[in-house]
Amino acid sequence: MTNGFNTPLLHDTQTMTRLREFEFSLEDFEALRKLVKQITGINLSDQKRELVYGRLARRLRVLELQSFAQYREILAQDGGKEIVQFCNAITTNLTSFFREPHHFEYLRDQVLIPMAGSAATRRLRIWSAGCSTGEEPYSIAMTIREALPELHRWDVRILATDLDSDVLERGRRGLYTEDRLKNLTLQRRARFFREHRERDAVSYEVSPELKSLITFKQLNLMHPLPMRGPLDAIFCRNVVIYFDKDTQRDLFARVAQLQQPGNLLFLGHSESLFKVSEQYALIGKTVYRRAG
Ligand SMILES: C[S@@+](CC[C@H](N)C(=O)[O-])C[C@H]1O[C@@H](n2cnc3c(N)ncnc32)[C@H](O)[C@@H]1O
Repeated sequence: MTNGFNTPLLHDTQTMTRLREFEFSLEDFEALRKLVKQITGINLSDQKRELVYGRLARRLRVLELQSFAQYREILAQDGGKEIVQFCNAITTNLTSFFREPHHFEYLRDQVLIPMAGSAATRRLRIWSAGCSTGEEPYSIAMTIREALPELHRWDVRILATDLDSDVLERGRRGLYTEDRLKNLTLQRRARFFREHRERDAVSYEVSPELKSLITFKQLNLMHPLPMRGPLDAIFCRNVVIYFDKDTQRDLFARVAQLQQPGNLLFLGHSESLFKVSEQYALIGKTVYRRAG
């Protein structure tokens, strides 16, 4: 079939299959999506077939393979080495500084400022679960530096974890191009970032005063959570959106064990604990308090 310009129309599946660089059968897609669910908890809908093809075709090129059947064999046989690249290719890492800014305002006004004014413990533990390239934990660190001027008197740690080893490495380096800084005020840029020049490229590096508050670690949320609580606040935002309800229930039951009554949990704008957990009470826009 042509569209009058002697180029094939793309909407019939046979034509699309023929135009693809690698053969990608329904069986390949089903097998790969089963593996993704098993390892990461991510549920890929039927509509994600093209996305999966596009992201994994790059791996086939790197490995100089001819087909997805060969790629599946490698995943099954190389002792788990390719699994890391496979997961890195599948995860969606969209993030930004001060994304959903009301959460950082809530943290400042309801947690940090009251804590600063009380004589109570000066220990603060925050976990960014699914931290991607680091913008979320660095935004938490900026909020803390601004709200607690006497930080040297505090014991503050931010743990930033993700399944994807590539994004974690970028978070650890803390180097961002100027367009990534668009949500930041000039004061924040001046205080927390240093210009970094490499040949002709300019980027901005997060200052040591932020880096020193954060530990980046690889952690798959499907696995046991090895940290010790209690965690004053957990940011688990835009991570569980692709998990099914059972997976979410299991995760938040384990997360709840790391918190005490009153501790906070922040979810992403389209996520909710409705029919997922009764151990938290909704107290603001996607802000939950550990009940008890
Ligand atoms: C869309 S990003 C969200 C980043 C940040 N929390 C935010 O809201 O801007 C989702 C992150 O969750 C991570 N992720 C997905 N499944 C995961 C799992 N099973 N364990 C740990 N991290 C996971 C992905 O690698 C990705 O970096």
